[in-house]
Amino acid sequence: MSGAEAIGVFDSGVGGLTVLREIVSLLPNENTIYLGDTARVPYGSKPKSTVIQYALEDARFLSKQKVKALVVACNTVCCLAMSNLGEAFDLPIIGVIAPASRAAVELTKNKRIGIIGTEGTINSGVYYQAIKQLDEEIEIFPKACPLFVPIVEENLLEGEVTQKIVDMYLVELRGKQIDTLTLGCTHYPLLREPIARCMGPEVTLLDPATAVARELKQKLIENNLLNDKAEGYRKFFFTGQPQKAEKLIRYLNIKIDHIEQVDLALPVA
Ligand code: DGL
Repeated sequence: MSGAEAIGVFDSGVGGLTVLREIVSLLPNENTIYLGDTARVPYGSKPKSTVIQYALEDARFLSKQKVKALVVACNTVCCLAMSNLGEAFDLPIIGVIAPASRAAVELTKNKRIGIIGTEGTINSGVYYQAIKQLDEEIEIFPKACPLFVPIVEENLLEGEVTQKIVDMYLVELRGKQIDTLTLGCTHYPLLREPIARCMGPEVTLLDPATAVARELKQKLIENNLLNDKAEGYRKFFFTGQPQKAEKLIRYLNIKIDHIEQVDLALPVA
């Protein structure tokens, strides 16, 4: 494996693009291959065994593209399938939970942290344990928001309906005196404005993507895998039709060198 190989990034859908955006900004020389399993999104309401199967298929697709590292840009997969990925692939694998938890613990002043995520993420208790291990005095207020992923996949990032859905889930967190709200699903930073409007200015919204990109950089340095040659390419693969995702990639200002619909059941060319 050399520095010129790409970094593989995957998510159930378009949410992982928020992580890719930070990777591209911190490591512009790196080649990246993004896989969004948009035909099967959401993962967050599916049984653990299904999420494990999908995650292994996603990672297999990327490993066949000879990536040098894998970024699991999906909190749900990180909570339910990280050990399965570690056993199946001999690659540096970067998840989102550890960097997100460390960033949340560093950010909170009053030791009251809210965490929002999919049902899979919240019910797994993985965030709860990770944060308690860092500081057991911290009080954690978790909340699953299952409709956030479908509205982001529909590109409904603003507007009356979106605000109503956001308010419906988050209203109960408003009285909890949290000072930090961890966006524990990579789709949620795309709803930053309506979430901020609901939570008010005293709550800091934590998008873990920056911390994840930093962790990736560290791992590449440790493994002597940094690419210092030229500006990297950006390739995108989606299992569903790529039009909506393409719109979002352009909105996030990420260049597109290649975009294609793929069937994970077919052998990689
Ligand atoms: N972006 C995924 C996450 O971070 C969303 C999972 C889903 O598809 O429900 O959890």
